[in-house]
Amino acid sequence: MDEWPEIPVARTAARTAARGSARGADRGADAPHRPGTARPAAAPAPAGPPGAPAASFAARKPRRSLDDLVVSEEVRERVDLALRQLDHHHVLYRDWNLRRIDPDRTGTAVNFYGPPGTGKSLAAEAVAHHRGAELIDVNYAEIESKYVGDTPKNIVACFEEAQHRQAVLVFNEADSILGSRLSSVTQSSDHSVNVSRAVMLSQLDRFDGLVVFTTNFPRNYDAAFVRRILVHVRFDLPDESTLRRLWTALVPEEVPGRAELDVAQLAAASAGLAGGDLVNAVKVGAARAVVRTGAERALRTADLLAELAVLRRAKAEVGKPAPGGARVLSVEHLDRLPGRDAPEEGTGASAGQP
Ligand SMILES: Nc1ncnc2c1ncn2[C@@H]1O[C@H](COP(=O)(O)OP(=O)(O)OP(=O)(O)O)[C@@H](O)[C@H]1O
Ligand SMILES: [Mg+2]
Repeated sequence: MDEWPEIPVARTAARTAARGSARGADRGADAPHRPGTARPAAAPAPAGPPGAPAASFAARKPRRSLDDLVVSEEVRERVDLALRQLDHHHVLYRDWNLRRIDPDRTGTAVNFYGPPGTGKSLAAEAVAHHRGAELIDVNYAEIESKYVGDTPKNIVACFEEAQHRQAVLVFNEADSILGSRLSSVTQSSDHSVNVSRAVMLSQLDRFDGLVVFTTNFPRNYDAAFVRRILVHVRFDLPDESTLRRLWTALVPEEVPGRAELDVAQLAAASAGLAGGDLVNAVKVGAARAVVRTGAERALRTADLLAELAVLRRAKAEVGKPAPGGARVLSVEHLDRLPGRDAPEEGTGASAGQP
């Protein structure tokens, strides 16, 4: 595995300030605004207290590897391609001189997009595992601040922490962070959204490690970010054969009755569901089984089928329905889901656009 090239990173006050701060403190009352949705007419955000610390971002060791990722060959090939950029960095950029066509950027940004529960976050963790690196999970709520000027500070802090630890930086709900910049700035909170986007762009350009974005709403990305992402990987809902592999992978060997499960029947009954749904069915199905006694105290196909039926009904009744229902939920439908607006037209033309 090649070393990532060393480039100096400007130290800012945020780095020192980030140490020992309370993450996300005092943020509960103000729900963060999601870009692309109607912005309530609110008073301009107050300036943060002078010297307020940036949020701190904890690095963790990945617990799962690429062996745990059950996806189609096509998806696996895309994930491997993203990794090859890093694994063969020396040959590609020094010996083959790809640096000549892109001399300014040494890091790699990849984008995992697709419906909920399809394994995007798992893949991000597995990628870090493959690189022998820690990962830093960043969620929108952790970097969005109710104080003007603090969100950019938090963005800088997470990149600096990742640089320092050579960690893989994972932005979940990345559409919230990479959303289109606003073309007509009407209030100071709008201005600060644009400043945050600009800071994100510059941090991305100078970072020399691996950044993984994950999203259910890829259409909301600003074009400037799309251009900076080297590899896009679309995670689809699993097909029949992937579902069979998922059912085998997601029931631990220690679960009594595992060997007798009818994987084919379970796969047929879970068409249109994602791996995350299967995990939930296994957990609740096991809870059904664990209170039984004697030989009956084992997970049965019937436990899982019963739970899948409940899950389907709940998916239809709880939360915002996906267009066409769960069975046909695919990435083509993602940007038309209720609650997400299409990016404003023309917003990609604002300052900083390549
Ligand atoms: N392709 C997969 N291979 C193996 N396990 C999976 C897969 N998809 C989902 N799972 C299981 O479901 C859990 C949830 O998946 P994960 O959090 O990676 O989904 P996600 O795509 O990031 O969803 P979201 O868009 O809601 O964040 C995983 O921890 C894993 O146990
Ligand atoms: Mg996720």
